[in-house]
Formats: sequence, structure tokens, C-alpha cells
Amino acid sequence: MFNFNYYTPTQVVFGKDTVEQVGDLVKKYGGTRVLVHFGGQSAVKSGLIDRVKASLDAAGIFHVELGGVVPNPHLSKVYEGIALAKENNIDFLLPVGGGSVIDSAKAIAYALYEPEEDVWDLYGHTRQSMGSFPLGAVVTIAAAGSEMSDSSVITNEKTGEKRGYNSDICRPKFAIMDPSLTLTLPDYQTMSGCVDIMMHTMERYFTKGGNMELTDELAEGLMRTVKKYAEILHKDPENYDARAEIMWANSLSHNGLTGCGNGGNDFASHRLEHEMGGMFDVTHGAGLAAVWPSWARYVYKEIPERFVRFAEKVMGVERTEGMSDEDVILKGISSMEDFYRSIDMPTNMRELGIEPTEEQILEMANGCARATGGKVGSAKVLYEEDMAAIYRMAI
Ligand code: NZQ
Ligand code: ZN
Repeated sequence: MFNFNYYTPTQVVFGKDTVEQVGDLVKKYGGTRVLVHFGGQSAVKSGLIDRVKASLDAAGIFHVELGGVVPNPHLSKVYEGIALAKENNIDFLLPVGGGSVIDSAKAIAYALYEPEEDVWDLYGHTRQSMGSFPLGAVVTIAAAGSEMSDSSVITNEKTGEKRGYNSDICRPKFAIMDPSLTLTLPDYQTMSGCVDIMMHTMERYFTKGGNMELTDELAEGLMRTVKKYAEILHKDPENYDARAEIMWANSLSHNGLTGCGNGGNDFASHRLEHEMGGMFDVTHGAGLAAVWPSWARYVYKEIPERFVRFAEKVMGVERTEGMSDEDVILKGISSMEDFYRSIDMPTNMRELGIEPTEEQILEMANGCARATGGKVGSAKVLYEEDMAAIYRMAI
């Protein structure tokens, strides 16, 4: 078991109609002038933005709104938000949406703290953040886990670079999680979200190093739960309890809990997917499903015990007579593919709807290597040529 630092400062307010508490929560955390940040249409159409504004009004809190955040959120929208926030002396950010909206708000919050600096430097890793304005989140999709994570991912749409920045500084003060807000999600987004949630724990589970039994059990329980309720929601999208299970798993999967004591993260599948997102603008969770089976087949020989345990305890593979460890491992990976297919998720890039040329593969591998300082991964350390090989396998 390795030493670890588990930091989760976010107040979780969970359940039906909790959005009515948003005004009081902003006040509690010192907000007096709020930028309400949201995406394209969904939060306006459902009436959620009006509910948020009414709660802020009731608490006597000034607010301005900025919508239009797109999935794989753009740097230009971040700059627009910074300008609007400065104009209005904003002191608190309130994203209402999913990972894209919350990440865009996190970037604005960093920028407001250091108004003379270009916030994109953080994502280029040429400097570290010294602080951030406070933010709270109203979550509308269970997927990215940004409402409790230390991460923010922004796409520079001019260069096609999708880059992340991680710091405890940006963890939200509070997160409002009402599972009923996710009832309006299209199935594709719900299922992509489930893939992403499972993957946030898988990235922490498939590591080379010591592992802690309690953490492993928590991780396996979370992965089994998400798999089970993804299958239920795929058939019964109105099921509130299933949405609640997924929403809670969403936050626990990416707040650090399922990695405590295991000595590091892998996150190679994520970094490979980020390049696909930057180049082809694919939905993050679906992109992960398209790359993970190839990643798994490329690295499993490095950590066979982990893959056996995953196959048996998460995918429910039963070892029959004559099956070797390798047979169990490969059955575990193909069972994961069966699961993806059963919820209409892709298992490779073609099924995802993209077919990169060799030139594009090399470009993505190069981008991934540059973004990761030349190498990424814990299960197996991947270099640029490994990244290209996995992309080729994933076509
Ligand atoms: O823009 P609107 O109209 O709101 O539509 C959104 C969007 O099209 C829609 N949606 C959200 N809530 C809805 C809804 N539609 C109907 N009803 C609702 N209640 O869903 C679409 C996707 O939204 P988005 O915010 O992009 O989803 P997600 O939460 O999956 O976020 C993805 C982004 O987060 C990054 C990803 O890379 C990607 O850029 N990630 C952020 C992480 C973090 N900050 O910790 C970690 C993740 O690994 C991930 O990399
Ligand atoms: Zn993710």
C-alpha cells in the first residue's frame, strides 16, 4: 500500500429538487455576483436555468448568464466568459451542465484569479496556477465527474489541441446532484457517460504497483454497479433510482476515492482519447469505449493478475477447466466489448464513426506524446510508437 493524499472539499447536495438550494449555497460560500454558465440548449429548454435564476434572486444574489458551451469546450468561450466576468465584477462561478460546462467555468475561475496571465498556459503546462475564484456546480449529466474532480479539459479549437490541467485549487465548493435533471438526456449521452464513469475507476485500477484491498473492493463494486445500472437505463431511461446510482458513482469514480493507496494512475486511454476528441470532436465516453479494448490487449501482459481479477470480479468471467490466466484475461476484455455493444457503444474507431489515416494516427500519437511529456501510463509506460500502435489496433 502506498501513501496517498485524499482531498474532497466539495459539499454534495443530492436528490430531487435540490436545485432550489443553489442561492443559499452560493451565499454560504461567499458568492455575491455570479456568472451562470451553461451549454447549448438543454438547460434552458428544461426550465433549469430559470429555476437557478429564481433561487439566486430569492437569495438576493446578482447574476449574469453565459451559455453556448459546446462538448469538448472551446477556449474562445472561456475567453468570452473571462471578459464578461471582469465587466460584471463576478466573484463566483456557477456552471449548470456537464463536464464541458464545469471545465469551462474552472478555466474562467483560474483566469480571474490571475487576470494578467493567459489561462491557456496552464493547459500547455508552461506555468502552475496560483489560485482560482470559487465555483459551485449544478450537474445535469453523470459522466465526467468534474463536479468533484481536480481536473479541467479545454480544447483550443484553432489548433485542435485538447488539453487538461489538474489542480486541487479548482475543486468546486459544492455540487448539486439531482438525478431527475438527467432524465432529458439522449441515450447516447447517458451511455457515453456510463463508459466514462467506469473508465475513471479503471484508469486507477489498472496500475502497476501495490494495491489496497479496500480500495480494490470499492473500485470493483463501483464498476459492477455502473455496468448493472447502465444496462437498466439503456432499457428503462425513466428509472430514477438507476439514474441516482449512476450519478453518485459518477462523482465517487473521479474524486480520488477509487485510487487511494494504489500508487498512481494510468490514464493512458484518456490521453489517447483526448487526441481523438481534439481532432474529430467525438463524444468523450464513446471515444474511450473505442480505444480501451485495444489498449487492454496491448498492455495486459504487464499486469496479468489485475486483468484476471477484473475479469472474474467485475465482468463475472467464470474459469472453466483448462482455461489459462490468459484465456480468462482475454475473455474479460471481450466481455467488456460485449457490454459496450449491449448499450450501443463502439468497440473501435470505425464503430465510433471515424477512420483516421496513417498520417492522422501519427499526428495524434505525436500530440499525445507532446501533451504527456513523451510518455504516459502505469500498467505499461507508453511512448509515441506505442500510442500509434494502439490507434492502429483500434481502427
Ligand atoms: O449543451 P447542451 O444542450 O446542454 O447539451 C449537452 C451536450 O450536448 C448534453 N446534456 C447535458 N446535460 C443534459 C444534456 N442533454 C439533455 N439533458 C441534460 N440534462 O450532453 C452533451 C454532453 O455534455 P458534456 O458536458 O460535454 O458531457 P460530459 O459531462 O461528458 O463532459 C465531457 C467533457 O468533459 C471532459 C471531456 O474530455 C469532455 O471535454 N472531461 C472532464 C473531466 C474532468 N473535468 O474531471 C474528466 C473526464 O475524463 C473528461 O476528460
Ligand atoms: Zn473521462
